[in-house]
Amino acid sequence: MADEEIQLNDPQTLYRRWEASQWSPFEVDLCSDRDQWPGLTGEQRSLVHFVLSSLMVAEERITTKFSGLVGAYGSEEEATFLATQQVDEARHMQFYARYQDEVVAAPEQIGAHVTRARAEVSDAFGQIFDVALVEAHEQLVSSPGDLQAKVRFVTLYHLVIESTLGLTSFKFITDYLRQTQLLPGFVAGYSKIHHDETRHIGYGVWFLRETVRTSPDQADTLRQTLRAVLPHVAASLQLPGDGGASALLGVSEDQLKEFALGGLTRRMQIVGVPLETVYA
Ligand SMILES: [Fe+2]
Ligand SMILES: [Fe+2]
Repeated sequence: MADEEIQLNDPQTLYRRWEASQWSPFEVDLCSDRDQWPGLTGEQRSLVHFVLSSLMVAEERITTKFSGLVGAYGSEEEATFLATQQVDEARHMQFYARYQDEVVAAPEQIGAHVTRARAEVSDAFGQIFDVALVEAHEQLVSSPGDLQAKVRFVTLYHLVIESTLGLTSFKFITDYLRQTQLLPGFVAGYSKIHHDETRHIGYGVWFLRETVRTSPDQADTLRQTLRAVLPHVAASLQLPGDGGASALLGVSEDQLKEFALGGLTRRMQIVGVPLETVYA
């Protein structure tokens, strides 16, 4: 079973899946969203604003702080897969920018969206995306052959940002929008993005598992990276406002954290570095 999973998630298999999963951010139908937008309550609108802001900031960082990993490839198959991930992240940024332009606000440049979004996200979010991710990327760019730098980067990018934060946001936001039958175009685009993200996470788990197998000392790099960033992850899973967003979504912060932690626990098990060893 375990060996089958490795096969399923190796970079060549993931590349073939990418070839079979092409979509365009400009073909997602946003007509219903445009019709619904003026009728949303103030609370609903500010929740969507917060979500979009967070996603815009995240995707901008994720797109522009990735090329170091492409340059740190270990095989041609890995280089090929990583090139597709770079394209995917740019595509995701394009979808959120289009959504801002066509549904939420007047047309603006992507940079202007991100600047506005930055003003709305929390300090913890900034610590992850503007400090930890930027530093890990700079180290990888300056030393592409440094395995420790690559492990640190993939832990932060694929395991923390794309898995722990990304999958949690996707689940609770799309659950809410589906239940209330709101913004179907947003749900459709976000679901395409989610499908891409599961491929990216598949790569990250594959890389970390292979690396820990062949270089067991790198397990400590993974642990150290998580120890440094997990407090910010916990803080960034807090919902905005004094309980309003939480009540609107029908979900408590404990539920959010439980879901996030449950996923991280399972992935760390597959990688071969159980989460409980991080704080041992
Ligand atoms: Fe993405
Ligand atoms: Fe991604």
